[in-house]
Amino acid sequence: MHLVCSECTVVAAADRLFCDDCGGLLAFELNLAPQSERLREVFAGRRASNDPLDQSGVWRFRELLPPFDPANVVTLRENVLPLYHARIGAEYADAANVTYLHLGMNPTASFKDAGMTVAITHAKARGARIAVCASTGNTAASMAAYAARAGIAALVLVPAGGVSDAKMAQTLDYGAVVAAIDGDFDRALELVRGLDPTRVAIVNSVNPYRIEGQKCAAFALLEARDWEAPEWLVLPGGNLGNASAFGKGFREARALGLIDRIPRIAVVQASGAAPFARLFRDGGELVPVHAQTAATAIKIGAPASWRKALAEVRASNGTVLDVSDDAIAEARAVIGRDGVGCEPASAASLAGLCALRDDGTIAAEADVVLVLTGHVLKDGAYAAAYHASNAHYANAIRSAPTDAALRTLIEEASVMVGGAHV
Ligand code: F0G
Repeated sequence: MHLVCSECTVVAAADRLFCDDCGGLLAFELNLAPQSERLREVFAGRRASNDPLDQSGVWRFRELLPPFDPANVVTLRENVLPLYHARIGAEYADAANVTYLHLGMNPTASFKDAGMTVAITHAKARGARIAVCASTGNTAASMAAYAARAGIAALVLVPAGGVSDAKMAQTLDYGAVVAAIDGDFDRALELVRGLDPTRVAIVNSVNPYRIEGQKCAAFALLEARDWEAPEWLVLPGGNLGNASAFGKGFREARALGLIDRIPRIAVVQASGAAPFARLFRDGGELVPVHAQTAATAIKIGAPASWRKALAEVRASNGTVLDVSDDAIAEARAVIGRDGVGCEPASAASLAGLCALRDDGTIAAEADVVLVLTGHVLKDGAYAAAYHASNAHYANAIRSAPTDAALRTLIEEASVMVGGAHV
């Protein structure tokens, strides 16, 4: 496995973040011959093991990762992922065969942990003293946790007022130093990119080790489906590291003979933060925007990994679209009614599926996986405001001051399932 520029393919030194020749993002290249039977057996065998590395849904796939001394591995048993049948979500989207892949069921409750275990392991292995990131909240919480486990200091740059209370609380609890900057995520990332990567470990998704970890979500998904690829994978897009990672994972799985087709990837952005959707429609280079959306996790106007993500979407014969904040809010409430729940940005996946069903891109009977990137408890204020509103799926708190009122409520509630009348 070696590190190359994802744009000009020049071979890069291990401690670089960007190509010395063209400034492009770096990526690992996996050179393994097809060996599906052996790998499937090795991966499956580890599921019965009590070794911490085997219990991690990242390190369990270590043949497909950059090599590390196991003594350096920093793991919280990440990427052990449930798949949930989306009964109500499927009905809502007028689709027959929909599953949620819930990456919010990770140790710090978002998909970031799968990448962070590799990025922090690398930082520790090379003796880094401090890890740094820009974040809309989830990367911050994840980095803070893994850095704490590794005994490495952590510094987070966040947009002032742009991160939910829960994400901030996690990050502070795990002991990171938090700097709230007067600017948005894009400005924070610009500041981080200006730092010397040989002095600090930059663990945003421009770091190729992050992508190696996150690609394991694709392996875990495929393994849980007995190596049967779905037709479509629909996921939210912000900085676009995750779309790049899933695409890489699927391509590698096919090259190894683990699957025989690559799922089509649909990336969904919030309309107020949709430079990638516009680029996909209009062509050309990415034109950054001043991002605006209530889905704060994906409030990103200049996604760093757009070139990588574009290559993956194209390789998969996929698509990119954007959906309104109202569509995201409603889809999030619907995912809740399935007893699953997620944070706002994650629900862009179901909102996106609705749009792709409406325009016929995805057929009613297609086998679709919706990626949920963060846990429902990541943004309580957003959920509380939704339920206090008069939105369609709002579920207001009722008061029951008297016995009679309580009896009426019991009558009402007993004819409802998941908040809906039966
Ligand atoms: N969903 C959630 C819950 C996120 O936190 C993010 C990104 C995304 C989707 C988009 O993923 O950037 O790989 O396209 N959150 C970053 C952060 C930016 O700082 O936590 P992406």
